[in-house]
Amino acid sequence: MTSSPDASSAPVDPTSTSAWDALRAHADGFAPSLRAWFAEDPERVSALTFDAADLHVDLSKSLVTQPILTELLALAEQTGVAQRRDAMFAGEHINVTEDRAVLHTALRLPRDASLSVDGQDVVGDVHEVLERVYAFAEKVRSGEWTGVTGERIRTVVNIGIGGSDLGPVMAYEALAPYRHAEIQCRFISNIDPTDAALTLQGLDPATTLFIVSSKTFGTLETLTNARLCKAWLLDGLAGSDADDAVAKHFVAVSTALDKVEAFGIDPANAFGFWDWVGGRYSLDSAIGTSLVVAVGPERFAELLEGMHAMDEHFRTAEPAANVPMLMGLLNVWYSNFLGAQTHAVLPYAQLLHRFPAYLQQLTMESNGKGVRYDGTAVTTSTGEVFWGEPGTNGQHAFYQLIHQGTRLIPADFIAFADPAYPLTDTQDGQSTDVHELFLANFFAQTRALAFGKTAEEVRAEGTEESVVPARVFTGDRPTASIMAQALTPSVLGQLIALYEHITFTQGAVWGIDSFDQWGVELGKQLAQQLAPAVAGEETADADPSTTALIDWYRAHR
Ligand code: F6P
Repeated sequence: MTSSPDASSAPVDPTSTSAWDALRAHADGFAPSLRAWFAEDPERVSALTFDAADLHVDLSKSLVTQPILTELLALAEQTGVAQRRDAMFAGEHINVTEDRAVLHTALRLPRDASLSVDGQDVVGDVHEVLERVYAFAEKVRSGEWTGVTGERIRTVVNIGIGGSDLGPVMAYEALAPYRHAEIQCRFISNIDPTDAALTLQGLDPATTLFIVSSKTFGTLETLTNARLCKAWLLDGLAGSDADDAVAKHFVAVSTALDKVEAFGIDPANAFGFWDWVGGRYSLDSAIGTSLVVAVGPERFAELLEGMHAMDEHFRTAEPAANVPMLMGLLNVWYSNFLGAQTHAVLPYAQLLHRFPAYLQQLTMESNGKGVRYDGTAVTTSTGEVFWGEPGTNGQHAFYQLIHQGTRLIPADFIAFADPAYPLTDTQDGQSTDVHELFLANFFAQTRALAFGKTAEEVRAEGTEESVVPARVFTGDRPTASIMAQALTPSVLGQLIALYEHITFTQGAVWGIDSFDQWGVELGKQLAQQLAPAVAGEETADADPSTTALIDWYRAHR
């Protein structure tokens, strides 16, 4: 048995551990049978169901037995997951390639907590900025903050991309029932000019406020869109003083306040954060300003409390009952031992329709790495493809492949006891609670995936023999069921933090730096390099294929 490594030491090669060997032995000839496992073990549900903060998580339909789980927990122990987690919470520089602390968990620490990192009073700084964001949001919400013509703000447009967009959009959608009735938010992210053009359509510059959100304030898409919006604003408010108009209609969120000023936004109208907040972990920083305006400081504070509750669970629960750790380890089992290449997240909540897209950046930008944090090559596959759509829409699109396809696709199902909008369907004098009809699908899908339908069961329905094989469901398709009372701000925060820590656990086992994103750089550099050729100003200095494509484009422009 390997002893637990220290967080500052080189990553342990997970494949060199005794737990890995044991898991490999379990995987060889693995013949799961959820039917048999449930029949043999009446305690399976209670043994594999956990409560984490307000989330009720049933992992009993996972493709795992207690001996496998024991080895997965040993793998966590032998690769030092808990030490790395503790190092993260303590503010150690676990983002090795950028030499930074990783402290998104500090963004949701209560005001009376204390954490000093690199000589900085982190909690004090966090709450100082939060107070400023809250005060600003209250002014916009109450109508005290007016545009340059004296009218109240009716639309807030967040300009940002990646982590400066996906979190705010996802949460704005998820918390729709909590939004201010008279203020809408819109979001511009893509450098495709269509995005700005369509988003600005129908807006009145006099009542529109822009929030330029960019951690670095150097992102091509965001700065280009910010300039487009500034031009649109000044054009629409031609009678007003330009500086006054920008001061009343533009605020910024960034770690680079000098660049904000250089862009022409008064630092008094800027909210900062810190390099120890990764972009994809930044919704709970000032990057959430548009959300604070939409739902109000009180609700945003509840979101932070929910995240903190899940942080505390991850930080303190013993590994065998630690939901993010268990779910992360199950993902390792599925992807490294059972060959799963993707992971579906299927919310049975229309309000979470952007949650899978949000998770794609969180999981794939974090764990899509081929080298470990000491620069050595990984020894096993990393980062699955995360994807998903809300149920029941997905049922009528891609579930066929999950049920009967040849690939193993672990899936997380998410549902809430309370409907956000309770509606009753009445037909022939009979009333149906539509939420219950909806949830019947949630329960049915995980049941079908787990237990399938045998050839005997198909035949018993009188099916013609030639069609029997096509109608058989093998079952043994793993799912996790995550339930909560309602999709409140706190529960949303818990879900976000749950997936952050699942992602963390997987990255820690693999020994990778889940907090850098060097893989996005090359494309950015080449786009800058190719821009003059695309504009027809010079001949492309590129490979023959790229050069020919640019030539084709120039000929068709
Ligand atoms: O290109 C990837 C990325 O760096 C993400 O990690 C980040 O969330 C996004 O770009 C936006 O960056 P910024 O907030 O600095 O504009």
